[in-house]
Amino acid sequence: MEKLEAALAKAREARKASLGDDIAAPLAPRQSEPRAAQGGADWSALPELSITTEQARSGRLGSLLGGKDATPYDMLRSRTIRLMKDAGWKRLAVTSPNAACGKTTVSLNLALSLARQRDLRVMLIDLDLRRPALHKLIGYQPARSFHEVLEEKANVVEACVRVGTNLIIATNATPSRHPAEVLHSDRSREVLKAIEAAWQPDIMIFDMSPMLASDDNVGFLGNVDCSLLVVAAESTTLPNIDVCEKELAQLTNVLGVVLNKCRYEDPSAGYGYEAYE
Ligand SMILES: Nc1ncnc2c1ncn2[C@@H]1O[C@H](COP(=O)(O)OP(=O)(O)OP(=O)(O)O)[C@@H](O)[C@H]1O
Ligand SMILES: [Mg+2]
Repeated sequence: MEKLEAALAKAREARKASLGDDIAAPLAPRQSEPRAAQGGADWSALPELSITTEQARSGRLGSLLGGKDATPYDMLRSRTIRLMKDAGWKRLAVTSPNAACGKTTVSLNLALSLARQRDLRVMLIDLDLRRPALHKLIGYQPARSFHEVLEEKANVVEACVRVGTNLIIATNATPSRHPAEVLHSDRSREVLKAIEAAWQPDIMIFDMSPMLASDDNVGFLGNVDCSLLVVAAESTTLPNIDVCEKELAQLTNVLGVVLNKCRYEDPSAGYGYEAYE
């Protein structure tokens, strides 16, 4: 693990040297939208879902299980919220170089961990429109898909579910037939702005598709304030991490790299930035 960290640090330094100071400077905050004049939509009107312990176990939802399983996500929550609050950012994209690194698992655990802070209103949105999976992880089949909401063919309430009082999860019942077009469109950007204005979340987390599989994310990442790159220990390669971190940094602010599927705990730390297997 030390070798991986050292190699990543070296790659960052090399990139910083080749790009000058730009890489270190955060991008300017996205203009925040005015809040809805009518004071926001009614969260209690959304269907409520309780995630069972059985589901939490099978879905690796450590945030719900508590104890040692929740610790890495609580650490991730604290760092993420501090960085985002300091910068005045609200929208976070979660992506990875390749498939199956754990984006959906990390996004959901992070959202659940954030939602344990009762004063935070959290929206988690499935934007992996090729292989939507969030609904499966929470065991919910929505009537309609969030991509249809973006295309103004469905309403938010038909694609969303509420967990507790302060977490909304927007899911897709089916993949989109035109994922890149939907994600890149001006209409989707406007719909998201309207949703943010009406529902007034403090933080929006977008569970995205892998960076190297398609260009779906490229045209969308201008709509977010910052991102996390989830990588899988022992399967994501250093060149892939480097190339994706570099590309992400050109599209949005990168909060950090989350090392997932790590089989080894650091006994000296007791805590990790990674999610344990
Ligand atoms: N920390 C972990 N340890 C072991 N397995 C994990 C861990 N995190 C996720 N997984 C498992 O890896 C698989 C992929 O996880 P997940 O669906 O979250 O990844 P993803 O990056 O969203 O995948 P996709 O690219 O298909 O959207 C799942 O079976 C999940 O249970
Ligand atoms: Mg996924």
